[in-house]
Amino acid sequence: MPVNAWRDNATLSSIEVVSNSLKSVGYLPSKQIATTVYLAARLGKPILVEGPAGTGKTELAKSTALATDSELIRLQCYEGLDEAKALYEWNYRKQLLRIQTDRISIESETDGSSWDRLGNDIFQEGFLLERPLLRAIRSENPTVLLVDEVDRMEVETEALLLELLSDFQVSVPELGTITAKQMPLVFLTSNGTRELSEALKRRCLFLYIDYPSPERELEIIGAKAPELDKELGGQLVRFVAGLRALDLKKSPSISESLDWAHSLIEMGIGSLDAADVADTLHLLLKHRADIEIATKELSQGTR
Ligand SMILES: Nc1ncnc2c1ncn2[C@@H]1O[C@H](COP(=O)(O)OP(=O)(O)OP(=O)(O)O)[C@@H](O)[C@H]1O
Ligand SMILES: [Mg+2]
Repeated sequence: MPVNAWRDNATLSSIEVVSNSLKSVGYLPSKQIATTVYLAARLGKPILVEGPAGTGKTELAKSTALATDSELIRLQCYEGLDEAKALYEWNYRKQLLRIQTDRISIESETDGSSWDRLGNDIFQEGFLLERPLLRAIRSENPTVLLVDEVDRMEVETEALLLELLSDFQVSVPELGTITAKQMPLVFLTSNGTRELSEALKRRCLFLYIDYPSPERELEIIGAKAPELDKELGGQLVRFVAGLRALDLKKSPSISESLDWAHSLIEMGIGSLDAADVADTLHLLLKHRADIEIATKELSQGTR
């Protein structure tokens, strides 16, 4: 197994230190989030982060890289993602050029006895194009590898990740097995649009990031929009929590709360009244049906 340098990383040396390190780069973790990052570093295990959109899954990986001053390597997943985009690809143009130059030089030889040499050396290091997974494995330094939105790739493609996640190695048939020198700290994120395979889950620590409590959301808003009045911030997070309790198509996430906070600052609103809420509701809710449900609730005065 490769070296796990994360185990002794000073910025991740206890749950409290992890929490402070993340806070220092503007990410406010819950105790559960800080604990999982700490354990992942100690145990050398990937973290599978699941939860609704906009709850800070991607940001967690980015902030961990920032807090630990390490390189972030990101693989954005999508339907149709294949080995050539995720792992490695042979540089066909370069290979073709090599074959052509080889051919010209062989043809110029008088006896032409070297034809079996043609294209012999085109499956070597110099012709390899590294994609994110291979790059993370071969990096000389500890890196943070973010495999973002893993639920968007087909279940068959997940197999690509299994060898990497359990042994930190990948197989390139022409070159053999490549093992990581340094274990990357791996974050996989998912919105839960489909079930991930048991094989994948088994290899990871599981972290579910739900919508934050009003207290934590207020802290996040305080850090990202410090100009916002504390009282108003309190009103905002309570209102958003109320919206999340409704049966909506898409509940507002932290991103929407932040957009709302920034907008209220720009509009010079110091305290929320019903008219302000009605005018700005579309910043929180992105579906017309949801806006109608919320407006109805508001007008009934149940909220
Ligand atoms: N704990 C947190 N501390 C500070 N900011 C946060 C936190 N959680 C979320 N945010 C903010 O919320 C925004 C959305 O987070 P992010 O993009 O990571 O969401 P996500 O869970 O990856 O969403 P999606 O599933 O849509 O990709 C970020 O820009 C970040 O500023
Ligand atoms: Mg994301």
